[in-house]
Amino acid sequence: MKKYECLTNDSSIASAVFVPFYAGLDMSMYLWGYNISVRDSASLGLVKWLAEKPEWKRMLGRDHFLVAGRIAWDFRRQTDNESDWGSKLRFLPESKNMSMLSIESSSWNNDFAIPYPTCFHPSKESEIFEWQDRMRRQKRQYLFSFAGAPRPEYQNSIRGKIIDECLASKNLCKLLDCNYGATNCDNPVNVMRVFQSSTFCLQPPGDSYTRRSIFDSILAGCIPVFFHPDGDDYKYTFSLYGNGI
Ligand SMILES: *[C@@H]1O[C@H](CO)[C@@H](O)[C@H](O)[C@H]1NC(C)=O
Ligand SMILES: *[C@@H]1O[C@H](CO)[C@@H](O)[C@H](O)[C@H]1NC(C)=O
Repeated sequence: MKKYECLTNDSSIASAVFVPFYAGLDMSMYLWGYNISVRDSASLGLVKWLAEKPEWKRMLGRDHFLVAGRIAWDFRRQTDNESDWGSKLRFLPESKNMSMLSIESSSWNNDFAIPYPTCFHPSKESEIFEWQDRMRRQKRQYLFSFAGAPRPEYQNSIRGKIIDECLASKNLCKLLDCNYGATNCDNPVNVMRVFQSSTFCLQPPGDSYTRRSIFDSILAGCIPVFFHPDGDDYKYTFSLYGNGI
């Protein structure tokens, strides 16, 4: 990324200003078991600091953007009820003027969805073509596969059914068990091996509408099968279609 000629350290000539705040990492530390003042603390500090910068004055933050490695809803807590989820970063007045690139977007129009990071890190274009070529030539012995765990705590989760059907299908389906305690899915090699051997990869919603697995399956040349329209329909129009990928 540092190679792009459009980058500059001189903010006075920049058309967009990147805000190097790791909102997802910050939130991950405090999502469970911390009160809202702790969860909001870094966000409040950030916007206060930003708004005093000369760069802010130019467009009142409209040209600022940040990147968050968690879903947009983690930063959109609507009330100050302690039992509500996440921080209110994106409801702070300064933050409302900025754009955020996050895993999934919310229905607010200054969130833009970007894909989950995968473990594929090509350093040049030729590595991408090489990889695509390899994936096209894969022998896919399974018709479909599922990598995941059941979610009995979610009443409407279809995952249990998918696992039953997969097991009942004998050799048509490959199940990679990611249940709590199982370590199969921590190693991306295991996940990619299954997806590279499958034609269709089943992608029921996870904690949110999308899951990293969708992007792993696309990478492996396995066709993702969605069970909910939000899985790809409008959340990812920016990165999947607008960008020509
Ligand atoms: C906070 O949320 C809980 C659970 O949703 C609810 O029972 C409670 O009434 C709410 N408190 C306030 C002050 O809104
Ligand atoms: C956000 O932008 C609006 C209009 O562009 C402006 O009126 C407002 O003061 C800005 N908010 C902050 C906190 O700078």
